[in-house]
Amino acid sequence: MHDLLIRDALLLDGRNHPGRVADLAVRAGRIVALGDLAGQPAREIRMASGLALAPGFIDVHTHDDSMVVRRPQQLPKLSQGVTTVVVGNCGISAAPVRLRSGEPPDPLNLLGPAEAFVYPTFAAYRTAVEQARPGVNVAALVGHTALRSNHLDDLGRAATPAEIAAMRAELRESLAAGALGLSSGLAYASAAAAPTREVAQLAAELDAVGGLYATHLRSEFAAVHEALDEALDIGRQARAPVVVSHFKCAGVDNWGRAPELLGALERAASNQPVGCDCYPYAASSSTLDLRQVTDRHRITITWSTPHPECGGRDLDAIAADWSLDLETTARRLQPAGAVYYGMSETDVRLILAHPLSMIGSDGLPEDPFPHPRLWGAFPRVLGHFSRDLGLFPLHTAVHKMTGLSAARFGLVGRGLLEAGAHADLVLFDPARIRDVADFSAPQRPAEGIAAVWVNGQLAYTPERPIAERHGRFLPRSGDLRRSFPHA
Ligand code: ZN
Ligand code: CU
Repeated sequence: MHDLLIRDALLLDGRNHPGRVADLAVRAGRIVALGDLAGQPAREIRMASGLALAPGFIDVHTHDDSMVVRRPQQLPKLSQGVTTVVVGNCGISAAPVRLRSGEPPDPLNLLGPAEAFVYPTFAAYRTAVEQARPGVNVAALVGHTALRSNHLDDLGRAATPAEIAAMRAELRESLAAGALGLSSGLAYASAAAAPTREVAQLAAELDAVGGLYATHLRSEFAAVHEALDEALDIGRQARAPVVVSHFKCAGVDNWGRAPELLGALERAASNQPVGCDCYPYAASSSTLDLRQVTDRHRITITWSTPHPECGGRDLDAIAADWSLDLETTARRLQPAGAVYYGMSETDVRLILAHPLSMIGSDGLPEDPFPHPRLWGAFPRVLGHFSRDLGLFPLHTAVHKMTGLSAARFGLVGRGLLEAGAHADLVLFDPARIRDVADFSAPQRPAEGIAAVWVNGQLAYTPERPIAERHGRFLPRSGDLRRSFPHA
């Protein structure tokens, strides 16, 4: 007797090939059969004619580190069909962190207030996630900036050999406790003083366990190509797979460079394991960075500690009200968060459509007025970009958020519809799916998701809230190099 039988759905199995209409059966948290299962007994039978059934989406780029414990329901993610999140990106992770001076340094503050940083070791974080049992599965990277903040009294300088040794020991311990690998965010002031060597020496720990290096490049502006070369170099030295985070060409002067950068990524991929993630919007979001303040594109303030009333307002409008220039205004708003409308739509589409790219939301769940990617990234790829614009077929869109992602991050038994796989599933209407969240009303669930199951249990329907949570902590499973074509 099956626990669940989903009948007559278009099965998009996570591999990059067209779907077929068939049935799928679940028992004890696993997919047990696919095909014509008419007449087989099941506790629950769900007719799904006209709907698509895919592996639960994997959000490979998130900052949900502390939210999976503090607000474990994970509605922004489940409502998009996401069943697994990778946390610890951009050099910032909630663990292992021991705050030295009360407040978390920028951009660690994107993950929450001081009270959110209660995991002195990676093992403590893993235990907390297991106890919280969030609505989605969680896999985690360790942030270089987080390690720096534990061991350096001044983030504005390079680490000493003794500090590097201490950071390496802490990374090694975290990898042993199940971390996927290391992330860095050299673009941020709190890590920019780190020379290539500092990161390369940490990344050297990845070789022994087959861990992965995820990088928010040192620059996404004029020096983006050099920054990409630096990341690839670190990966080669460490013999570690490289995932370039939220790959983009930022800043008006940089528009049109996607072909050049994708060419460089492709060349690298022919002799080292490499990929990238991206989100489907031409605007970025992070803390308010004075170096990114410009009058050449729109900037919206999403939060401000001294001026919370400015959340959701444009920087130029605030500057006009205050009769100040943009930079002085920005300085007065800090610490603050912002959305930067600084990319070209053409570049965004080229990167989204490239075979090396996976989908990652980069959503900022702590933000009171978040970039809409937090609630809309995955449905936007499926609805707007695949169905409405025809940028790629639906099965390719699904592959970029399931099979490809699971392979790259070594999430064994996830990301594919096949017998034996964990039953992380999303049932959606390909004709209706669309992102509803936008830049003026960013916290709205998508339309067209019919049901989501996590580890075989119903986790989300748009009609009624599901209180029970079924997510697990997913430790690194073996050598992540093996799933890359050129490992
Ligand atoms: Zn980043
Ligand atoms: Cu990020």
